[in-house]
Amino acid sequence: LQSNDIGLSGLDFVDAMENQDRKVVIFYGSQTGNAEEYAKRLGKECKKRYGIDSLVVDLEQCDMKCLDKLPEDSLAIFVVATYGEGEPTDSTLPFWDLLHSSYPTFTGLPDDKPLKNLHYMMFGLGNSTYNFFNEASRALDKKLTGLGATRIGERGEGDDDNALEDHYVEWETHACPLIKEAVGASESSDNSIMSEYIVEEEEIEPEYIYHGQLGNRDQTTFDIKNPFLAPFTSKDLIHDSNRHCLHLEIDISGSNFVYETGDHLGIWPTNSEDAVEKTSRLFGLKNKLNKAISIKARDIHAAKQSPFPSPTTYIAMLRHYVDINQCPSRQVLAGLAPYAPTPQAKLMLNKLVSNKEEYARVVLDSARSLADVLEYTLAESETLTFGAVPPEVLVECFNRLQPRYYSISSSSTESPDNISATIVTLEYKPKGTPDRSVYGVNTNYLWAAHCLLNNEVAATHLPKYYASGPLGLYRDPETKAVKIPIHVRRSGFKLPDDAAKPVIMIGPGTGVAPFRGFVRERVQQKEQGCDVGTTLLFFGCRRSDEDFLYSDEWDGLFKTLGGDSRLITAFSRETSKKIYVQNRLEENAELIWDLLVNQEAYLYVCGDGKHMAKDVHQAILELAKRFGNHDEEGAAQFVEHLRKEARYQEDVWV
Ligand code: 2AM
Repeated sequence: LQSNDIGLSGLDFVDAMENQDRKVVIFYGSQTGNAEEYAKRLGKECKKRYGIDSLVVDLEQCDMKCLDKLPEDSLAIFVVATYGEGEPTDSTLPFWDLLHSSYPTFTGLPDDKPLKNLHYMMFGLGNSTYNFFNEASRALDKKLTGLGATRIGERGEGDDDNALEDHYVEWETHACPLIKEAVGASESSDNSIMSEYIVEEEEIEPEYIYHGQLGNRDQTTFDIKNPFLAPFTSKDLIHDSNRHCLHLEIDISGSNFVYETGDHLGIWPTNSEDAVEKTSRLFGLKNKLNKAISIKARDIHAAKQSPFPSPTTYIAMLRHYVDINQCPSRQVLAGLAPYAPTPQAKLMLNKLVSNKEEYARVVLDSARSLADVLEYTLAESETLTFGAVPPEVLVECFNRLQPRYYSISSSSTESPDNISATIVTLEYKPKGTPDRSVYGVNTNYLWAAHCLLNNEVAATHLPKYYASGPLGLYRDPETKAVKIPIHVRRSGFKLPDDAAKPVIMIGPGTGVAPFRGFVRERVQQKEQGCDVGTTLLFFGCRRSDEDFLYSDEWDGLFKTLGGDSRLITAFSRETSKKIYVQNRLEENAELIWDLLVNQEAYLYVCGDGKHMAKDVHQAILELAKRFGNHDEEGAAQFVEHLRKEARYQEDVWV
């Protein structure tokens, strides 16, 4: 048996649609699962309203060169997310590259307008906190039109920072009648919507069961779908008993991974036992956690036959394969209401579904997981459960547990086989329930791994993790190693090719991570005899004796770089008035302006995208007004120009 999760690659969807008499194909490009969820929802909606069977497929599973073969009376719908700085998702990249090559080759004859027969619709997902909001869907739309395709209806734009669900529903309301018209469907509705998967509890030989293996266990190379179990060493960089910042050094020898300074590291978390216990209790799974389940798509033509490796067990699914900590969508809650064990619970679920404010208050503002919400509807009863939920509905409640990404903080020239990451543990009290702590899924998993490795005792209130098994937190008795599943992801956040160009780096808090890699890389270049330009690093933290990351390293590194290169610090909680990195930028305005304008410096910002990156952007605009004599618009153009030349790069998170 093999994992079905890997899926097909290069599916001839036109052929498949013809064989199955389908006229609508819904492509999704998803990074964290949202676009996938909406694409599937749209497919169900088409079925429900008009009885239309659509093919819902991951862009990366399809041979997109067939796009020009799609018959004129068919419709392609794209539901695609934008990731990071205006980039397409990893799964969209091959299609993106195909469209952006100078002469995209499809299966037909060479043609200026190869997609002239294509009718398509588009819904993009993005986050307006980032500069290039919904850039991937906008660019895709433009490309498709440029290649002769005709868009039907408005392109939808969902904003994850603000009412994504409302934006989608609004778009869907307009889109559905257009879909019906485009493929000439009738009004005949089909309410017999069935779950996407068939889940069966079966007797299966243990060796065939996936107990937490993440990729295809027969695959011998490692990649974004098949992580490498890597040993690591770690230390805590913060001198504060309530906060931790891990410096991890991960040994990738034997993994075939090659990274470059500035790339990202993907780490695959395990859910905490506390969350697994609660979820299994609320779904009445306690007595059958080790039962084997096999999952297959109800639609035998579906490109993805299982959402995660199958066959598996309930316990492996909850620990390793699905995200049980995410806030559930209203759609998921609606699907569970029929199985509520009490009228009161049903009423409460329906209220969460129909009343946006109530949903925001109870679910989003309180950062409640699905199990937390169910517990809330059962008035914290110890005995009542949602045990009546059928396994196929249960499987659909959750998205796949995704790897988390971090900026790599080492230099690939200096340590090609050792990747370091700088990761602060996350714990916060949601504004809706300030008496309750919520713990970051991956950062606390890593903290537990650190404690296990270093024989430290984690504070008792922190989440606990499964401590043995193939992917549990486990310390090898012989090698003493603890391993974590990882992969490397390319990023565009890179030093200039020409080392002589000056660089200005702004990275408070863990935003300093890639800059530790950059500074070390520049030191390597210098030691190899290169002419290395001025290197400025603006770093901010609370106090010099508390969270000054890598404080013992900077002196030596900047001494080697010499010249005007230096670290400029902003300690925010040492003086009565807060000092932030942008204040230091102002103090050094003249120098920065000179570097940017007369020496073609590269400026980099990394860290919090919600406030810091915006404030830094504002500080640079002010600089342009002050020294470049620009008005508001001229200053904005100046920064845009820098961005276009890749001389203003951001690696930020929200
Ligand atoms: P604070 O927590 O004392 O407000 C790393 O988190 C550092 O970034 C801290 O010193 C933090 O200060 C600071 N910081 C908080 N908000 C910021 C902002 N908008 N711009 C720049 N730095 C900020």
